Amino acid sequence: MEQTYLMIKPDGVQRGLIGRIVARLEDKGFKLVAAKLIIITEEQAKKHYAEHEGKDFFPELVRFITSGPVFAMVWEGDDVIALSRLMIGKTKVGEALPGTIRGDYASHTPLNLIHGSDSPESAAREIANFFAPDELADYNKDIAAWM
Ligand code: TYD
Ligand code: MG
Repeated sequence: MEQTYLMIKPDGVQRGLIGRIVARLEDKGFKLVAAKLIIITEEQAKKHYAEHEGKDFFPELVRFITSGPVFAMVWEGDDVIALSRLMIGKTKVGEALPGTIRGDYASHTPLNLIHGSDSPESAAREIANFFAPDELADYNKDIAAWM
């Protein structure tokens, strides 16, 4: 089953949007396999955004993402990488459509509330950057498992 790394950024945590964002992902039917509130290190931030190193917005991006706690998560599901990015919406808030997380809640780039991995390779790298393997819960989401 496919996994992705989703991270509610410091603006989402500050604005009290963790619950609403997590609810959308639960409503969609994805399975939460790991979650924690952490202040990420500059080293983790630079590694996470390595593809953007050298771009004009990179220093501001690293400063922002390390400025307060983030809510780091691993979610699992069919096609969860593409589908969660669809739910997240476009990077620039001016292009993020209503109905998406960024479209509904974000009003300033790069304060766009949430990160989502863009490929299976990115997901594996990003999960490993923020979680130890034993932090991922292996369980059956189906309630019928108890019956
Ligand atoms: P990117 O990986 O292109 O977007 P996404 O988060 O949708 O995968 O960029 C990473 C973050 O960098 C993005 O969420 C916000 C910030 N950013 C800017 O501030 N300005 C920009 O022009 C771009 C492309 C990104
Ligand atoms: Mg990206």
